[in-house]
Amino acid sequence: MIGPTLKISDRSKMPPFMAMDVMRLAAELDADGGDIVHLEVGQPSSPAPQPVINALSESMVEQRTHGYSVALGIPELRQRIAKHYQEWYGLNIDPKRVAVTVGSSMAFAISFLAAFDVGDRIAIPNPGYPAYRNLMIGMGLEPVILPAGPKEGWLPRLKDMEKWEKLPDGLMIASPHNPTGVVISDDELKNICDWCDRNNVRLISDEIYHGLSYKDRCETALKYNDNVIVINSLSKYFSMTGWRIGWMILPEQLVNAAEKLSQNLYISAPTPNQIAAVKAFDCSEELDLHVNRYRENRQVLLSGLPSEFLGKAAPCDGAFYIYADISALSVDSISFAKKLLDESGVATTPGVDFDPINGHRYLRLSFAGSEKSMHEAVKRINSFVDAYKRDAA
Ligand SMILES: Cc1ncc(COP(=O)(O)O)c(C=O)c1O
Repeated sequence: MIGPTLKISDRSKMPPFMAMDVMRLAAELDADGGDIVHLEVGQPSSPAPQPVINALSESMVEQRTHGYSVALGIPELRQRIAKHYQEWYGLNIDPKRVAVTVGSSMAFAISFLAAFDVGDRIAIPNPGYPAYRNLMIGMGLEPVILPAGPKEGWLPRLKDMEKWEKLPDGLMIASPHNPTGVVISDDELKNICDWCDRNNVRLISDEIYHGLSYKDRCETALKYNDNVIVINSLSKYFSMTGWRIGWMILPEQLVNAAEKLSQNLYISAPTPNQIAAVKAFDCSEELDLHVNRYRENRQVLLSGLPSEFLGKAAPCDGAFYIYADISALSVDSISFAKKLLDESGVATTPGVDFDPINGHRYLRLSFAGSEKSMHEAVKRINSFVDAYKRDAA
């Protein structure tokens, strides 16, 4: 038992990640025999590519020692990631600038610790991925909210930061974005990169949803700015969420700091998974089939959901999310999501996770599941909304 006078740090007082709570609740209902349609999950329902699974089992059969690797990752994986930048973006990246991490989540921690000091201010788009804000608070950094809602065309705008009394020390961007699926255009990405360079603002670009875009291909911020920290992982396009392999492409002058931080924080990413992960980058054929499924799922939702969900939704050109504005029905997304789950068995994520200011008007719907479940979701949500409106009348 914790003694009444023993301290719990202020820095750990951060809000819970609601998406995880909804996932737990939906899983409990599933376990009780509930027939739940999962639109709350932010991960692929497909397994890792077969060659990756084969490589993992081969390395097990060969009884490789699987001890720690060096902190920045096994050389084969760092080289393969560097080659990926040549293949996808036409860029020559020195493998020495690649740091393998425990998911992109650990890359955030390392990059924040390597690039910023306590009290530094980092602009983050709102709505946005909650871990940016929560981790910053835990590290004594100050997240500064950069509005990126409907009024701003769902994009972080440089002109809004320019109005601030003081420019931030850093700027975090993510494209495609979570929770909105919004993609920053190539021109705008270049503007952001140039602006950060000119103003000495450290740019961190979370590119975890690259490969999942339904209009234009996404460019990497590395194309326009060598000082950017680019973060990515195998969790989304590569369908390897639980393998916990992420990476950073670092500016040369941060490599040493990141190495020391990694050594002390986690020693190395899981070695067997690193060995197998080398194969992931040669599996586009298999992985693009998943992207085709997401594209179809997206269409099922966009053409079938009621206007009360889609009327003012963000343009979901990437990732696997629709950020639905439900304010015509309710401005309490937590109880609305709960009612939707209880009465229709459709699990969604309330927007308050991603936006402490306006998130009560939004629900995030993930279309990473099966096509069948998308059709079922459309059917159930339409009946739910009809009944909801009848009750409210
Ligand atoms: C924008 C964004 N970045 C990072 C992550 C975390 O990913 P990882 O599994 O690589 O830690 C997520 C997970 O949903 C995400 O949506």
